[in-house]
Parts: sequence; structure tokens; C-alpha cells
Amino acid sequence: MKPRTPVYITIAIILAILFIVYYMFVPNSSFFSSPYFWGTVVISTILTLIHNSIGDLIENDKFKKLTDVEKLAYVEEKNKPYFKGLYDSAFKKQTATTEQDILIDHGFDGIMELDNQLPKWWLGLFYFGVAYCIVYMISFFLTDFADTKVEYDEEYKAQTASIAEYMKNTPPPTIENAAFSADNIEAGQEVFKTNCVSCHGEGGKGGIGPNLTDNSWINQPEKTLFKNVFQMVENGSPNNPAMQAFGKNGIINGFDIQNVAAYIYHINQELKPLTPADGAAAPQGTPANWEK
Ligand code: HEC
Repeated sequence: MKPRTPVYITIAIILAILFIVYYMFVPNSSFFSSPYFWGTVVISTILTLIHNSIGDLIENDKFKKLTDVEKLAYVEEKNKPYFKGLYDSAFKKQTATTEQDILIDHGFDGIMELDNQLPKWWLGLFYFGVAYCIVYMISFFLTDFADTKVEYDEEYKAQTASIAEYMKNTPPPTIENAAFSADNIEAGQEVFKTNCVSCHGEGGKGGIGPNLTDNSWINQPEKTLFKNVFQMVENGSPNNPAMQAFGKNGIINGFDIQNVAAYIYHINQELKPLTPADGAAAPQGTPANWEK
């Protein structure tokens, strides 16, 4: 008769399995605060303890029927600490006679092969792996667990929320603190395509509105090009209502004005000016002498 696994080990294993199952089947791992989780923990622990007591009764009964030698061997085995037994079983060396008993016949090639028992820890890991695999497959196919699309959506939502939060807490740039940044050019191009291209043409070459790539400007209220654009988009043109006050009218916020101003700075200062020879509008206004 072999001593049984101590009850605390069984309870630890059951709790670990419970944890894994809950972790996989409950979204957001919010189960720690759920009464169902703690309910199953308590019930499983009680059931395990009951099961263990029944096992004790059966063991006592069996023990009485053992011979004295068997009783001694059993008690010695039982007094060995559990983990030491487990460790020993992993490195157990058999005596020459047991080796003889478990020798598999390899008459044809002379190789010596022993029919060893698999170590307990190995078997335990193996069964755990099988159980884990089943639970994993079920939760993978039947729930949202480890679903890349769901995880992506959740992350996307969280990020959009944090961007919205940032926007709410960060006042949009004004003409006083707005600044050119090359990082904003791309976003500015999008703003331009949505709000400005209908009048200022592809790439700012001009149309209903003036050519924004050359050095001639009708309106020059500010000293630097970047601020000049910001001011025009914020307040519109005093001479021509077609160029409306996009900022003041609440059509474009400060962030997007800063972006579109960066884009116009880019096409005006960093790219070659478009001329009538390129199919662009002729210069309007007077040559500008922007400060850096
Ligand atoms: C409905 C047509 C229209 C739209 C849309 C429009 N503009 Fe204009 N824009 C004009 C006109 C017309 C002028 C010339 C105003 C004037 O004569 O003072 C102008 C002038 C400007 C100027 C000053 C140019 C100069 O030479 O003085 C800037 C800068 C400018 N627009 C940027 C933008 C930006 C950026 C957008 C998009 C957010 C935009 N505009 C959208 C028609 C438009």
C-alpha cells in the first residue's frame, strides 16, 4: 500500500486549475472580486477535505489488514516528507535485481533497455499539459480568450479613450504658443485635403484661393510664415469672406490649425514653389519677407 498525496497538495492543484479556468473564461480577469470565484474556491476546498477524510478511513481500514512488516514499511514511507519523496523518485536508481526484473528483451541487437516507471513529476506535468490543452482549446474557440481581434479592439478602444482624455486635459494650441513641427506635416496634409483643397488646389497650387507655395502673399498680418497661416485660418480673410475664419467658426480646432500651418509651411518653404508653368495659379499680393 502506498501513502496518498497530502491533502494540501491536492488543494493547491485544484486551486491552480480553478484559477486557470476562470482566467480563460472570464473576460478582463475581473473574477478576483467575483463571489462565484470565491464560492467555487471554498466549495472545492471543502469537497477536497471531505474526500480526504473518507480516504483516511479507507486507509485505516486497509492498514489493519497489513502484516507487521508491511505496516512498518508503510509508516516509514508515510513519514518521508512529500517533496523529498518526489525528488527521490525523479533520481531513483534501481538495484541490480530490480534492473533484471524490468529488463526488456533485446536479443537481436544486444541493447539494454529498462522498462522504468515514469517519474511522478513527469507524469504530473504530462497530465497537467493535457488538461491545460483541453481547457485552452475550449476557451479559445468558445470564448474571447486569446482572441487577437478582440484584444486588438480592446486596446484600440483604450487608446482612443486615452487620446480623448489627453485632448480634454490639454488646451489646443493658440497663435501665441503654436509652433512648427515636422511631425505635424502629415496630419496637416489630411486637414488640408478635407478643408482647403477645394479652393487652394492640389498641393496648394491655388484656384479660387491663392497659390500657397509661392512667396507672394495678399495677407501678411504676422511676421513669420507659420504664424501668418495660423492667423489666417483662425480668423479668416478681412477682404474676402470665401476664406472664412475656420478656427473662430469652430470648424477646425487649434491642434488641426497647428497641423495645417505646418503643412503649408512645408509646401512653401521646403518644396519648390509651383508656378503657372506647372499649372499653378499666378502669384497674388506682394512678395513676403518672412522672419525665421
Ligand atoms: C471657399 C474657398 C476657400 C477655402 C475652403 C479655404 N480658403 Fe484659404 N483663401 C481663400 C481665398 C479666396 C483667399 C484669399 C483671401 C483674400 O483675398 O484676402 C484665401 C487665403 C488664404 C490664405 C492667405 C493667402 C494670402 O495670400 O493671403 C491662407 C494661408 C489660406 N487661405 C489658408 C487656407 C487653409 C489652411 C484652408 C483650409 C483650412 C483654407 N485656406 C480654405 C479661399 C478658401
